[in-house]
Amino acid sequence: MASTLLNNAKQIVTNSSGKPYEIDVVEDASLLFADGVVKWIGNAAKAPKADITIDCTNQVVIPGFVDSHTHLIFGGDRSAEFAARMAGESYSAGGINFTVEKTRTASDAELRANAAGLISEMYSSGTTHFEIKSGYGLTLEDEIRSLKIAHEFTEDVTLMAAHVVPKEFESNRQGYIDLIINEMLPAAKGIAKFVDVFCETGAFTVDESRQILIAARDLGFERKIHANQLGQSDSLKLALEVNAVSADHVTHFTDEDVKDLADSKIVATLLPATEFSTNSPYPDAKRLINAGLKVAIATNCNPGSSFTTSMPFCIAVAVREMNFSIEEALWSATKGGALALGDNSRGSLQVDGKADFAILDAPSYVHLAYRPGVNLVNATYKNGEIVFSKGGK
Ligand code: NIG
Repeated sequence: MASTLLNNAKQIVTNSSGKPYEIDVVEDASLLFADGVVKWIGNAAKAPKADITIDCTNQVVIPGFVDSHTHLIFGGDRSAEFAARMAGESYSAGGINFTVEKTRTASDAELRANAAGLISEMYSSGTTHFEIKSGYGLTLEDEIRSLKIAHEFTEDVTLMAAHVVPKEFESNRQGYIDLIINEMLPAAKGIAKFVDVFCETGAFTVDESRQILIAARDLGFERKIHANQLGQSDSLKLALEVNAVSADHVTHFTDEDVKDLADSKIVATLLPATEFSTNSPYPDAKRLINAGLKVAIATNCNPGSSFTTSMPFCIAVAVREMNFSIEEALWSATKGGALALGDNSRGSLQVDGKADFAILDAPSYVHLAYRPGVNLVNATYKNGEIVFSKGGK
């Protein structure tokens, strides 16, 4: 395959040292890639020759964003719920059932087209890799078809049948948990890599979540948990108990939670657009970062609590409202996301690593937070292939 040189970028962010939150910027830099892999990074004056040269003067190259928490398989629209919230109503897990009804009646083609549209938005804002959860089907058939559609787009698929207890099981909660454990988990083997539980008032208790996550562990799934989104509970303790790869939301936490998590490998995935869209207080990321935790930033793209696909938007909110430095936010949205998926092969730019990157029309990565709401992405490449270009592919 032809080699391509990204030539004379103002900055290339590499995240290459392997140290959390160090983004390792090379100034006045070039990057050579071929066969989907980075071959060389260094000072532009020393750049090797290539078959194709892309002029990156006054532009910045960053590792592609890794969006480690999305719910892209759904039908229907909840803009009315958002409008009501902006008029003073509060967010609750109850709205999920509206999307469940719309998802169950949607055809595969409709679900696939909706997800594909959102994924092209992701590529246009610099995301190169993403996780997708099920969780709006809540029958054996609808959860597995959601997983299969998700798997058409990514290898990082999560079974989230434990999103809420569906209406038909309202008076038989344990019956639904048994259905997840005995039928859905075995059927999800080979499609889903992760199992996630919404451990929250209005969704699943800590004891119910434990049953599901332990069964998932016994079947060899990686575990994730929606922890402390709406209030404080023992869900972070459960994340430790089941050795989760990530605990997500983490809007609420105690000093003891922070200390416990800091002694573990669990990545805390913060979801800035969720607090933004639900009018909720933001967590203070500095408390987690200063304690030595690895933090990821993700969009949580879903029709209820966070309907955005834009990682740059999440970075801007994280910096402005959650006490991230710009470097911490950028690292968390790239390498942090990769680690939240248990995958160190993404989220950085280094020789022999994946050529997954975005080219920003900006002289500094700082513009990601400095210019909120402006799409700075000129082009996005995944495995060395262009997946978005401002001028059209
Ligand atoms: O991560 N918290 C649970 N699930 C989604 C929201 C789902 C919805 O409201 O539809 C979330 O915020």
